[in-house]
Amino acid sequence: MSGIIDKNEISLRQANRKDISILEVWLNKDYIKKWYGEPDEWLVEIQNDSGDFNWLKHYIVMYQNTPIGFCQYFDCSHAPEGFEWDNEPQGTFAIDYLIGEEIFLKKGIGSEIIQKLCQLINSLEKPVQIVADPVPENIVSIKLLERNGFILEPTSGLYKLKIK
Ligand SMILES: CC(C)(COP(=O)(O)OP(=O)(O)OC[C@H]1O[C@@H](n2cnc3c(N)ncnc32)[C@H](O)[C@@H]1OP(=O)(O)O)[C@@H](O)C(=O)NCCC(=O)NCCS
Repeated sequence: MSGIIDKNEISLRQANRKDISILEVWLNKDYIKKWYGEPDEWLVEIQNDSGDFNWLKHYIVMYQNTPIGFCQYFDCSHAPEGFEWDNEPQGTFAIDYLIGEEIFLKKGIGSEIIQKLCQLINSLEKPVQIVADPVPENIVSIKLLERNGFILEPTSGLYKLKIK
């Protein structure tokens, strides 16, 4: 993709079974796998054959009619225990995101995804806060979160966006 990206052309739509093959490609890319880990674990959750993962809300990031990335959110109170958000209040929602097509990196689209995902959570849920849990080495993701108003809470290690 050469030229300027028109951010108005970016949208989120619900992921479906037909997206699994492109998600598999993206999750196997080194710059994504490095942070996301084992692709199969994500694919099992997204396919949700068992019905165990209804609490995860998966979206595909579209640029015009082209899928370019993935994001998801979930209500932390519905997630299994043993994670950083265990002690967070009701109304805590967590987000994950990736850009799967390299030509769309470094163009400000990460911010667009985070903003659209947060708008979506605000419109569908009653969040008191939205959190993200990047590993400390994922500087790109941390800078992105900070540019979008997320603040590190040192005790939990979570980046938090409080909703007024
Ligand atoms: C994390 C991720 C989504 C960030 O996406 P991104 O849009 O490329 O974000 P970046 O911060 O790298 O790019 C923004 C850069 O584009 C530049 N840019 C160009 N045009 C821009 C615009 N119109 N608006 C904002 N930034 C723009 C900015 O200067 C910025 O560069 P800088 O950080 O050197 O200042 C992406 O790197 C990714 O998918 N990584 C792998 C998966 C991952 O780590 N996910 C998060 C797990 S917690």
